[in-house]
Amino acid sequence: MSLYRQSVSRTIVRSSLRDLRITPARRLFTKSAPPTRTPIRTSVYATVIAVSAGLFAVYYFDARSALHRYIFTPILRFALDAETGHKFAVKVLRSGLAPKDPVLDDARLNCQIWGQEASNPVGLAAGFDKDGEAIDGLFELGFSWVEIGSVTPKPQPGNPRPRVFHLPEDSSLINRYGFPSQGHASVLSRIRSRIPPFTSGPNRASLREGCLLAVNLGKNKESPADSIDDFVTGVRTFGPYSDVLVVNVSSPNTPGLRGLQNRDVLERLLDGVTKARDELSPSVLTFRKPKLVLKFAPDLNESELADIADVIRNSSIDGVIVSNTTVQRPKSLVNPNKSEMGGLSGPPVKPLSLKALRILRGHLPASIPLIGCGGISTGADALEFAKAGASMVQVYTGFGYDGVGACRRIKDQVVDELTREGKTWSEVVNEAVDKLSLKEAEKPTEIDQTSAISLLIAEAHELKTMLDKLGDKMGEQDAISIGKENGLAAAAEAAADTT
Ligand SMILES: Cc1cc2nc3c(=O)[nH]c(=O)nc-3n(C[C@H](O)[C@H](O)[C@H](O)COP(=O)(O)O)c2cc1C
Repeated sequence: MSLYRQSVSRTIVRSSLRDLRITPARRLFTKSAPPTRTPIRTSVYATVIAVSAGLFAVYYFDARSALHRYIFTPILRFALDAETGHKFAVKVLRSGLAPKDPVLDDARLNCQIWGQEASNPVGLAAGFDKDGEAIDGLFELGFSWVEIGSVTPKPQPGNPRPRVFHLPEDSSLINRYGFPSQGHASVLSRIRSRIPPFTSGPNRASLREGCLLAVNLGKNKESPADSIDDFVTGVRTFGPYSDVLVVNVSSPNTPGLRGLQNRDVLERLLDGVTKARDELSPSVLTFRKPKLVLKFAPDLNESELADIADVIRNSSIDGVIVSNTTVQRPKSLVNPNKSEMGGLSGPPVKPLSLKALRILRGHLPASIPLIGCGGISTGADALEFAKAGASMVQVYTGFGYDGVGACRRIKDQVVDELTREGKTWSEVVNEAVDKLSLKEAEKPTEIDQTSAISLLIAEAHELKTMLDKLGDKMGEQDAISIGKENGLAAAAEAAADTT
């Protein structure tokens, strides 16, 4: 019996042990079974991944993220040569997957140019989007003015590579691109392809409220040096599709181009482009004709600038961009690339541009707005140009170094400064323009008033003299008539006496 019990209990223990062995015993070279996934665990993982991807996307698509300024942009600068980095940036911006400025512009940034409103005063200068590939991506970064080009009539490759150089210690660039361009036809078809078939938009070629699209016109290398035909063709081609056309006579990399800044040729050029603009029908997009703006070099001296201002005053040009790159090499430059040929841009250009802008402001009436450009990379720089009389500003090199958040950052810094000063951008500009512009309209009035007063005084003197003379004469006549009367009375008395 006891033996029987023992064997029964052993059997029970064995069978219960067998039941307990849920997983097979692990042997050498076998894999452990995958952990069983409960639906709760799977959904937790999915949520964590989705939230992280969402947060990263929010962070990535916000142009202000430090990621762009401190990681992506420096990597791009160090990993790729300057031109390849530039091309890559344009590709990203045209892809629609680029970061954006997520914040509406502060009301203090609002500015007016030619009676048109811009939501902020910061524009992108020409040369970044030469062929108009990333117009919308650039507007999305918060620029209120995007200037494409320079575009030449015929496609041309530009100068041989390498033709762009970083000077990181100087936060500068030197370029001798020489207008590589896909040409008018190709850029025009790209601009037209942006336009939806039916628009009831904001009457802007930019297709955006508070924004302006500018096309910068260049000249083919083979065109005769003093020919203005390339610019005239540019006005006719892009006039119907742009808010502003920029006549670029200041790139140092096209032989003879800067010669167009000389008085005689400039007169002919301005005459030609303004006539071509005036002959255009109002654009079907904007219901008006484009504004015409000239872009100058910062290397002109005071008398050259005064001459230019004189020509502009006698033309129908609407505004001036001051300035392009410089051929000068300030002593402060450190990087060995400073000896490369081409136009220098970035902070070392700022004093030159500011000086040229101040001179031009003093020679041009308030009705001709100036757009400041050259070495602007902070809000303080932008305000310095506003206080010198610039209605708006443009950036290029600062954008290249600071990356996609540059525009937003400059705008935020301008707002901070304006808040401190208790002013708006327009107030700062109007104050400066009123103070510094040529008072052309008032001068003749002053002279007229002075001469009118002198004339009045002279006439009053003359009148007084005449009245005096008249008075004298009347006095004499009175005396004569009195005398006569007296004489007659005496004669009558005498006659009476004698009769
Ligand atoms: C790489 C590069 C290419 C440029 N290409 C053009 C151009 O095609 N047309 C033009 O009018 N200006 C061109 N510029 C000049 C800029 O528009 C701007 O006037 C100049 O760089 C000064 O501004 P910044 O100091 O902010 O760069 C170019 C500048 C750079 C750096």
